[in-house]
Amino acid sequence: MLSEEVARFLIDPDEILMIPGPTSLSSRVRFAMALPQQSHVAPEFYNAFKENLDLSRYVFGNSSGHQFIITGSGTIGMEATAVSLLEAGDQVLSIETGYFGHRFTMLAEIHGAKVETIVTPLGKRADTDQVSKKLKEKKFKVLLFTHVDTSTSVMNDVHALTEVAKENGVISVCDSVCGVGGAKLNFDELGVDVILTGSQKAIAAPPGATLLAVSKHAIEVMERRKTPIASYYMDLLRWKPVMEDPKIYLTTPAVQVMLGLHEALLEIKEEGIENRWKRHETNAEAFRAGIEGLGLKVVPDESSRAPTVTTFYVPSGTNAGEIQETIRSQLGIHIAKGFGEYKDTMLRVGHFGNVSATDIIALLGALELTLSKSAKIAKGVAVEKALPLLKSA
Ligand SMILES: Cc1ncc(COP(=O)(O)O)c(C=O)c1O
Repeated sequence: MLSEEVARFLIDPDEILMIPGPTSLSSRVRFAMALPQQSHVAPEFYNAFKENLDLSRYVFGNSSGHQFIITGSGTIGMEATAVSLLEAGDQVLSIETGYFGHRFTMLAEIHGAKVETIVTPLGKRADTDQVSKKLKEKKFKVLLFTHVDTSTSVMNDVHALTEVAKENGVISVCDSVCGVGGAKLNFDELGVDVILTGSQKAIAAPPGATLLAVSKHAIEVMERRKTPIASYYMDLLRWKPVMEDPKIYLTTPAVQVMLGLHEALLEIKEEGIENRWKRHETNAEAFRAGIEGLGLKVVPDESSRAPTVTTFYVPSGTNAGEIQETIRSQLGIHIAKGFGEYKDTMLRVGHFGNVSATDIIALLGALELTLSKSAKIAKGVAVEKALPLLKSA
């Protein structure tokens, strides 16, 4: 039994988590994490970790490169990539489709790179021709881009960006923290150099693990560096032998997180990655149809929308934070406000992992009920628009 002190901080199991991560956990994942503490060097854990690597290869579509799982949040995966690949003065092109693109720019700069940016207009994915032109103007070492930027819900054309990087002999690095496990992506087919993610979004595991697929070429570039990698924990070359033989001790992994991740990855395999992509697309389409049915505007344009997260404007005269709080406190559904300067004007909804069709309908109903008290919105239309899309899936 939990102490009353701790129980005060827990959410009611009936509440629905639709923030853009972390997402709700299946009972299997929660059960795995509640088992007695295990030794991190016992064969049981070592085998579970090895299986995590194999299962994550399946989820990433990675049979050609190296696979890493390291304790830490998604930012550790970003920074490990930056510190391991980049040397002082290296030229980097960073595409910013929102705040997380900007974070990658900052990380590359912190680790000594000279970074140029392409900042896309709000709601628009990167223009491949513009990127291609820039890559031809001078020799860049690395192209950084975000798959789905969780701050704007803009999805880039990962395939096109990887192709232009390859054409120009540039290392391609994709932050797919808000993509892997929900948005279509295959490491081998893309031929991208690095794809990284966090455990807490579309994989539907708890926060605390970062997962990376890294090409052989990227590893060779790290091995050929002129200067040593200036980090102990985030040096991917230091982790490489551990991933080949997880019996080797480097640091103590977050055992419970890895066990929860194991169940979550197994659940993805059972669902089938392609079925999972399809389910995410269907739920996202239905949600957006409902939002537009309410007369609200989705932030990304048609070609830049993501199957994992959606950002939309609240009606003028209403406040996003107040709507978010009413829906949370009165109806038990957790969504997020807009990011930074958009905190009053936008809402963000994560529809990934275990979010179901029923959750989509519940949120549309909750939005209609809440908004109709303070704004003029179309009534009864949201669910009517969303339902046929969910039913035909
Ligand atoms: C696209 C993207 N990249 C990076 C991150 C950073 O991940 P973390 O918060 O797990 O460090 C996030 C977190 O929301 C994200 O959405």
